[in-house]
Amino acid sequence: MDLSQRQLPLLHYGTPILITGCFITAYTIEVLRGEMDMAPPTKRIWVSRRYLCIALSLLIFATFAIQSALYIVDGIKAISNPAIGVKFTKDENQPLLNTPSNSSRCGSSLPSYQHNEDPCPPLGEGEIEDWTEEEWPRGDDYDDDSSEDECFGERERTYVKDDGGWYRHLKQYAIFWPYIWPARNFKFQLYLCILVTSTLAERAFNVLYPRQLGVVIDKLYDGLTTGIVPWKEILLWIFYQMLVSQSCGLPALGEVLESRLSNWSRFQLSIAAFDHVMSLPMGFHDSKDSGEVIKAVEQAGALASILKTILLETLPFVLDMVVACWYVTYLLDAYAAVIVIFVGVSFSFVTYYITIIMMKARRGVATQGRAESRKLYEMVSNWATVAFFNRAKYERFRLTQTVERSVKASQWDTDVSNIMFAGQEICEILGRLMISILAAFRIVRGHMPVGNFVALESYWDTITTPLWILGHSYRQISSYLVDAERLLQLFKTKSDVIDAPGAGPVQIPAGNIEFSDVFFSYDKSDPTINGISLVAQPGQTVALVGETGSGKSTILKLLMRFYDVQKGCIKIDSQDIRNVTLDSVREAFGFVPQAAALFNTSILDNVKYGRLDATDQEVHDACKAASIHDKILTFPHGYHTKVGERGIKLSGGELQRLAIARVILKNPRLVLLDEATSALDTETESKIQNALRQLTGGNRSGEKGMGF
Ligand SMILES: Nc1ncnc2c1ncn2[C@@H]1O[C@H](COP(=O)(O)OP(=O)(O)OP(=O)(O)O)[C@@H](O)[C@H]1O
Ligand SMILES: [Mg+2]
Repeated sequence: MDLSQRQLPLLHYGTPILITGCFITAYTIEVLRGEMDMAPPTKRIWVSRRYLCIALSLLIFATFAIQSALYIVDGIKAISNPAIGVKFTKDENQPLLNTPSNSSRCGSSLPSYQHNEDPCPPLGEGEIEDWTEEEWPRGDDYDDDSSEDECFGERERTYVKDDGGWYRHLKQYAIFWPYIWPARNFKFQLYLCILVTSTLAERAFNVLYPRQLGVVIDKLYDGLTTGIVPWKEILLWIFYQMLVSQSCGLPALGEVLESRLSNWSRFQLSIAAFDHVMSLPMGFHDSKDSGEVIKAVEQAGALASILKTILLETLPFVLDMVVACWYVTYLLDAYAAVIVIFVGVSFSFVTYYITIIMMKARRGVATQGRAESRKLYEMVSNWATVAFFNRAKYERFRLTQTVERSVKASQWDTDVSNIMFAGQEICEILGRLMISILAAFRIVRGHMPVGNFVALESYWDTITTPLWILGHSYRQISSYLVDAERLLQLFKTKSDVIDAPGAGPVQIPAGNIEFSDVFFSYDKSDPTINGISLVAQPGQTVALVGETGSGKSTILKLLMRFYDVQKGCIKIDSQDIRNVTLDSVREAFGFVPQAAALFNTSILDNVKYGRLDATDQEVHDACKAASIHDKILTFPHGYHTKVGERGIKLSGGELQRLAIARVILKNPRLVLLDEATSALDTETESKIQNALRQLTGGNRSGEKGMGF
């Protein structure tokens, strides 16, 4: 059963019960008031009525309480009983962010990164070869983005259910608490205290300000006869106005403090998310969609605002409603409080139901927005492929479809919002009408002064503003939580390549590397490394030769512990690499990967990445050893030339030589070269080999084609 369905009875029956209860309570208060100055015979009738009223209101409130309790029990049952559709099968390590295009390849045997079969396979290029624009496939049948997004939307919709109901779902967000709550930061705790105090004070002035207006009006009436100008009352009224002003009063102070707190949380969350992503192993990074991960980290900002929404919007709302009920009872009578409750409940009712529709609309906007930006990113980054195949028109057609869907989704979202605002406004107007008529009756019958009417009308805005804010907060919190689901999944994704308890740094006195009967597979059905054993003696150069796809690069990745072996072990100077720290193992190696990539900064910075404290002269020497120094000097800005994204502005050979220079500069104990000189001519290759020989006194392991 859907949880939102269980909430319906509470709202359908609970609301009228609550409102009836309030009316009868109001009547009881009137009865109690009325009996004060009565003569004995009439008083007896009132007294008997009193008990009847109290009994009735107790009965009604008890019914409401029982209904609420049943609802809660129902919720708890739903959490613990899988038979009604709530499961606990969510895998803690389930991957969250994988591209459809690579997910099938990532259906690996690595337990943490099991992926479902790709539900939305992209169309092969050959399949569109001879189509005219009219024949291009349209809509969801073809568009992998939209179908992928539907899969994503479906996944989000089932989160709450899979997590075992709202309570368990929300409980998971507790992992963000240390980043939102400044437990160890005295300064921010102080900010928080001032914030809470100023929010409470603001509630008081919200009442005093309209009340003072009423006082001024009454004094002005008196002034008609006495001729006295109530300037003190006017000054006080202006002072209160200043205190409740949004831009220079207590709300402004709240904003100042809250923005500091939110920024602090955002900082903490962003850094924690970055640390976490960087600590995840290659299995995760092979399968991730970078755009999705970056978006998830960016969601940290949304989550940081939750505290603000709760502290500055939701809690004050509750206070405001309590104060409002008391104050209107004071100004008018208990019936006015009933009207306030009626407006509050009907307003919440409208907000709740329309928000359900709106959340769907918002999800649509977010999904289509994502599809649009992904498509754009894909096209811009694959500009060369589009140009090689002359497919600009085709891509434009695909983009048009995506933008069209995105625009339609936004339109629907705006329409739903407008319907909601209209519904809320109607509730507010109805309430104002009722309270104005009630107040008019009281004034005409001489039960209250005219000033109270003005105070009440002015206070009405103070009552309804928090209602608007609450409606807004409800929507905000819901969308923050939806946004943060991605970040939550990211935080829940744990690395399986971690330091063993008590592991120390690896000691490399000699540099002996040993593989003993190592087994490894990315995919259970297709083992990649099948019981390999080898020894690389100190000073020895080992070359791995094999056909393409035989697992040479994988062996080097296992050695650097990007993955853990599934059977057997790898030892460096007799120490199993799983028993020493990951950091020290990676620090010991200098690795030139098969497809080296550079950062889009200067050549100097890229080479210095090997050793951050190296001097410019040391960088030049490393580049000389890698036979790239002379070439760099011919570039327009020499060592300060920017290399483009991933080093796109360099030739394959230049890129490889810079990657080698980086390792030479690092001067590591062990060198791993993964076809590091495949793009070089024989003469350059032999020069580099000589340089590498001198590098570590001979401790290196190489791969095929290195000729060591
Ligand atoms: N991240 C990965 N996930 C799943 N399978 C992978 C992954 N990386 C590599 N493989 C597969 O593992 C096998 C070995 O790959 P590897 O890169 O080690 O081969 P190689 O011997 O270095 O090949 P080449 O000579 O072409 O560089 C290949 O079949 C490859 O498709
Ligand atoms: Mg390889």
